[in-house]
Amino acid sequence: MLHAPSTSIRAKTPLLTLSGISKGFPGVRALAGVALEIFPGEVTALIGENGAGKSTLVKILTGIYQPDAGTIRLGGAEVSFRAAHDAAAAGITAIHQETVLFDELSVAENIFLGHAPRSRFGLIDWPAMRRNAAALLDRIGARIAPETRLRDLGLASRHLVAIARALSVEARIVIMDEPTASLSHKEIAELYELIERLKAEGKAILFISHKFEEIFRISDRYCVFRDGECVGGGMTAETDHNELVRLMVGRSVDQIFPKTAAEIGAPVLSVSGYSHPTEFEDIGFELRRGEILGFYGLIGAGRSEIMQALFGITRASSGTLRIDGKAARIRTPAEAIAQGIVYVPEERGQQGTIAGLPIFQNITLPSLAKTSRAGFIRLAEEFALAREYTARLNLRAAALDRDVGTLSGGNQQKVVIAKWLATRPKIIILDEPTKGVDIGSKAAIHAFMSELAARGLSIIMVSSEIPEILGMSDRVIVMREGRIVASLPREGLGAEMLVRAAAGIREAA
Ligand SMILES: Nc1ncnc2c1ncn2[C@@H]1O[C@H](COP(=O)(O)OP(=O)(O)OP(=O)(O)O)[C@@H](O)[C@H]1O
Ligand SMILES: [Mg+2]
Repeated sequence: MLHAPSTSIRAKTPLLTLSGISKGFPGVRALAGVALEIFPGEVTALIGENGAGKSTLVKILTGIYQPDAGTIRLGGAEVSFRAAHDAAAAGITAIHQETVLFDELSVAENIFLGHAPRSRFGLIDWPAMRRNAAALLDRIGARIAPETRLRDLGLASRHLVAIARALSVEARIVIMDEPTASLSHKEIAELYELIERLKAEGKAILFISHKFEEIFRISDRYCVFRDGECVGGGMTAETDHNELVRLMVGRSVDQIFPKTAAEIGAPVLSVSGYSHPTEFEDIGFELRRGEILGFYGLIGAGRSEIMQALFGITRASSGTLRIDGKAARIRTPAEAIAQGIVYVPEERGQQGTIAGLPIFQNITLPSLAKTSRAGFIRLAEEFALAREYTARLNLRAAALDRDVGTLSGGNQQKVVIAKWLATRPKIIILDEPTKGVDIGSKAAIHAFMSELAARGLSIIMVSSEIPEILGMSDRVIVMREGRIVASLPREGLGAEMLVRAAAGIREAA
């Protein structure tokens, strides 16, 4: 270790000091007098429920929003950021929860948009830009060619581009808002290494996450947000999981995976011989009434790809499908929905909600045929439907007639799940249902899934989180490299079995 441990003799001076930071939106007090210090060479974790105000703080620190009150001191001097470039010039950079990238531009252009290296004639120096982009991508362990068009990249790669973009700015403070939510195990490990390097270089890191194990693994300090205030903080080594949860939620959350036994009925979906030229091969399984069928695998194992084929987003090149025992064909999402199958994709931010429309309409839109009468009767029904589902999923919103775009990241995800559940499907495919969701809401979502299964809904749950898979599934299908490698019953299932099957490691003798 090159740097001194945090218990060095001289007391540390904070690099960034916030006091009394407040921010309101119509009907919402997003931040209510936040005080926070962050230190060079340390990772400060910011944790809190969905809607607690974490991303709002990030946007204030990066000049996107201006606070209503309070002061920001950087290295002792008071600063104010009127626009994003002020914060960048002061040495603050951020990987935002939802970064805006441009599909039609190359990876290098996305990384350097707005601050491209220029030749002495003031023109963009393309070779230097490509070189610098390649170096940045290399630094974060991303194997992506700088000239690739962004739209040809998958979710994880896009996220790596966003990380490279944040690091392309020379910064003293690096803020990461849920940076690992879309990354695979290997990429996460590389990000942790990068964070260690940034720490060793003396940078101050503010790290937002809902994943407790990573908070304990990488943070030095923590600060818990609740209703726009920092309600507790200190050294991470001096706290534990239970204390953090109590601070966050105001109570302990003991039952996180409350899967209740449900009566498992006849097969509702039978898939056999499903193949795709590049993504998966010879997929066959059965899903029964009332069953929660887990799909586990490493990222890239083909789980989302098979789900997209089942929902008619892509097409399988061969294979057959039976719904309720009858041969069926699904060529488009509309056909899937008509047959009672819905799919909640992993990436819900952009495709999942319609910004500009109120929350309740975002939820009721696909169910409109069911609440089809005219006038306020329908409006009242729509509201009631939206209220029921949002309450069950722990969605926190000032009011349901607000624009969905004003919700926090995690709450927008709940809207998308609510929307598809409200259509009362026979089969729902949930891809990473609790990604980006706080621990209390996670319990609420799991409880609701259990209850709906007990009422006869069949659920396919794709998840990379082992505790979620183990806790919620009646049966688990493990995929590796586009194939099903195991189908395991709930009884006697353990983490090690899953990992071995997913990674292709044989049982030790
Ligand atoms: N532009 C906006 N207009 C209106 N309300 C907003 C806006 N941005 C945020 N809010 C509200 O401010 C509160 C804090 O939201 P914020 O996005 O900071 O939460 P968060 O802690 O990042 O949550 P998550 O864990 O879900 O990402 C929420 O009630 C949210 O609805
Ligand atoms: Mg957020």
